[in-house]
Amino acid sequence: MKINLIGVPLHLGADKFGCNLAPKTYREANIVNLIESLGFEVFDCGDVNVLETDEKRKYEHHPNLKYLHEVVDANNKLAQKVYESISNGNFPLILGGDHSLGLGSIAGASKSIKNLGVVWIDAHGDINTDITSPTGNIHGMPLAASFGIGHEALVNVYENRVKIKEENVFHIAGRDLDEGEVELIKGSKGQFYTMDKVKKLGIKNVVKDMLNYFKNKVDAIHVSFDLDSIDSLFAPGTGTPVKDGLSVEDAKYILESLALSGMMCSLDIVELNPVLDKDNKTLDIAMYLIKNTLSKLKYGLENRLTA
Ligand code: ARG
Ligand code: MN
Ligand code: MN
Ligand code: MN
Repeated sequence: MKINLIGVPLHLGADKFGCNLAPKTYREANIVNLIESLGFEVFDCGDVNVLETDEKRKYEHHPNLKYLHEVVDANNKLAQKVYESISNGNFPLILGGDHSLGLGSIAGASKSIKNLGVVWIDAHGDINTDITSPTGNIHGMPLAASFGIGHEALVNVYENRVKIKEENVFHIAGRDLDEGEVELIKGSKGQFYTMDKVKKLGIKNVVKDMLNYFKNKVDAIHVSFDLDSIDSLFAPGTGTPVKDGLSVEDAKYILESLALSGMMCSLDIVELNPVLDKDNKTLDIAMYLIKNTLSKLKYGLENRLTA
């Protein structure tokens, strides 16, 4: 098994410049060496090509889905790379870029893995639709679209099918939810462990619930980690920072538990915005989490093989 790096220099889903520079920033910080130092073989698949456009054309395709065509196009390309990586027996590490890339990651992973679970770690719900979104930013919509709710152009990214079951979603660290998202959560079959709930239960119990929930339920888990899940005090370098979030150690614990479970098949690390970062604080956290998570992945694979 190799680690496949896939860069997604996309910011159109966030409508804010900066996170498109993140893949380059990770490479300049020697992410390849970091992963190799853990004893993995790395194959860098390079960056997904993002179409050029400009500010004046953001509503060209839909009145409340900014840069729809460009976001869908990038996700179609990403999905194919993720699908190839997993079906070749490798582990894709997807470096964003804005969180609209979850559309492509999940589309690709769910083509390889029939009954895919998704853990979405985020201050935001990312379950808006073109109807409920107050911003029109597609990075606030990928999770809903992946379980079949929202505009058909997003639901049908890459392939015309619903990618995951709603009940296969486990969301952690929500604390900045829009009205429509709160409504959707109320009747949802998915699991939503908001920050309030995390504080009440403690991170150990949250992880325990998560692993129990997925046991005998899914074939593998795609993990989508938005750096804004971490308290903005520690991780200021994201486009939509929110305070009162996870500590770095909480995030580390969630990710390493997933790696050790042997169920994790792919990982997104998204929304690093190097332009907004302070003293590389957020970059350093991202690198630390990637290092720790992948170092546990080996043991996870052994768990899976001997289980
Ligand atoms: N809920 C807000 C929106 O729909 C913010 C979404 C932020 N999403 C993210 N992936 N950072 O625009
Ligand atoms: Mn266009
Ligand atoms: Mn997000
Ligand atoms: Mn977020």
